[in-house]
Amino acid sequence: MSIRQTTLYTFHKQFATDPAWLARAPGRVNLIGEHTDYNDGFVLPAAIDRAIYVAARPRQDSTVTLVSVDFDDRTTFTLEHLDDPDLPGWSRYPRGALWWLREHGYAVPGFDAVMGGDIPVAAGLSSSAAVEVVMLELGLALAGASMSQRDKALAGVEVEHQFIGMPCGVMDQMASAMGVDQHALLIDCRSLDTKSIPVPDGASIVIMDTTKKRGLVDSEYALRRQQCEAAAAQLGVPALRDASLEQLENAKDALGDVLYRRAKHIITENSRTHAAAIMLEAGGLKTVGQALQDSHISLRDDYEVSCAELDVMVELANTQSGCYGARMTGAGFGGCAVALVQNDVVEPFTAAVAPAYQERTGLTPQIYVCQAGPGSSIERLG
Ligand code: GLA
Repeated sequence: MSIRQTTLYTFHKQFATDPAWLARAPGRVNLIGEHTDYNDGFVLPAAIDRAIYVAARPRQDSTVTLVSVDFDDRTTFTLEHLDDPDLPGWSRYPRGALWWLREHGYAVPGFDAVMGGDIPVAAGLSSSAAVEVVMLELGLALAGASMSQRDKALAGVEVEHQFIGMPCGVMDQMASAMGVDQHALLIDCRSLDTKSIPVPDGASIVIMDTTKKRGLVDSEYALRRQQCEAAAAQLGVPALRDASLEQLENAKDALGDVLYRRAKHIITENSRTHAAAIMLEAGGLKTVGQALQDSHISLRDDYEVSCAELDVMVELANTQSGCYGARMTGAGFGGCAVALVQNDVVEPFTAAVAPAYQERTGLTPQIYVCQAGPGSSIERLG
């Protein structure tokens, strides 16, 4: 059964009636442009064909009953008490989206809902952004309101900042809300302009989950953000997006080793992302692959957000014939790597990488071939 069907089936089983709405929001994989979004820079993610679904039916009161298929749990709360600390942790993201809608005057009624999905959790594929976006889709529909996809993404970012307490950038929610079928999305994280870039027919996007759960990510992420802000201040620019390599080299001694390397990653990653988008559009997969490989080295050595398992996975992927290039993807410290692989060698690629990774790390990886898919949506049922 597809996850869409499972979600609908579970709704019938739990509530003995038909849902009125079905919302969907995908996860994302970032091809390149890592940790650049909160530096006003450029990113090149794609929404993927794995998503969170929520099936729901409005109620007459302000009670919400939410069932999670993945967590095999059911919780009930009222819209007046969304920040109750005794509610289960998994319900924080959906509650955050409802909180945002109420704060902004949307008259969301209570509802019964089932949430299901097939995005691996805490693996760097933005399952939390997808939960925020899917609940914004649902809440808006229930309130009889609408918003642009971009505004839904920005609302999701505010949920992270103000309700969850994670100082993320805009990439994940933008990709989940604005994804385009068979395309990656070049996002200028300052202007929020997007350009969709077709993924060439000859290449598959392969996601390799190290199954090493991300550790340290919250504290290290916030620290990287502070270091980038400190480096930008020292260089006298509004954000590292505005700094050149020449400016950086001139300020090397003043910055000190750590800030210098953090800034170097951001400045070079922005150039790589630009170049990769141009080359992807032109079908220059070898050059795109090289940019992916360079990105990983920069994230590992200068930005220091990789880990042993990601390094092993990337090394194994890069040494397979027909792999254009691989790198860690997402915030880092565990989770997934991504590779661009020639279509006709995807099977031998997976057959070689998975056992070799397992032998070197003792962990069983999960490898998925994914398609770039459309952004979030909602359908009225019946
Ligand atoms: C997380 C954040 C994003 C982005 C990436 C790193 O996924 O939510 O905003 O900063 O890390 O590129």
